[in-house]
Amino acid sequence: MKILVINGPNLNMLGIREPGIYGSENYNSLLEKISSHAKEKGVSVDFFQSNHEGALVDKIQEAYGIFDGIVINPGAYTHTSIAILDAVKAVGIPTVEVHISDVSKREDFRQISYIRLGCVASVIGHGTDGYLEAMDILIERSHGDDC
Ligand code: DQA
Repeated sequence: MKILVINGPNLNMLGIREPGIYGSENYNSLLEKISSHAKEKGVSVDFFQSNHEGALVDKIQEAYGIFDGIVINPGAYTHTSIAILDAVKAVGIPTVEVHISDVSKREDFRQISYIRLGCVASVIGHGTDGYLEAMDILIERSHGDDC
């Protein structure tokens, strides 16, 4: 199984940006943590991060026919981007939305998630462990497909 982990704007600033909200773990250690989880689970994982909406759309389109699952934290584009939602729907790859912080307890403008409408599940407010949970959801689902 091939999983693509996509992070949107400002997630490359993990460890520096608002540590009280997003924690002190940096982006590279997040990638290491995800890689070792993937190894443990026997799946392959690729990463992509961009601060640009179009680049995120391009990457989702390129995933078509290559990846079996997508874990995505679209950052602030969660709350604004119909284009990213449409891309996920277009490729039809099972996708899980992740948010490090508990967006449900934050500002009103964070209560809308466009991407959620195209996702098989959402993992919210579990810190960076949420990425691992999202992978497990995709792995579990893929076992279901075998039956
Ligand atoms: C976030 C929550 C978003 O509202 C915010 O814009 C982010 C990160 C999270 O992981 O908690 O950039 O997606």
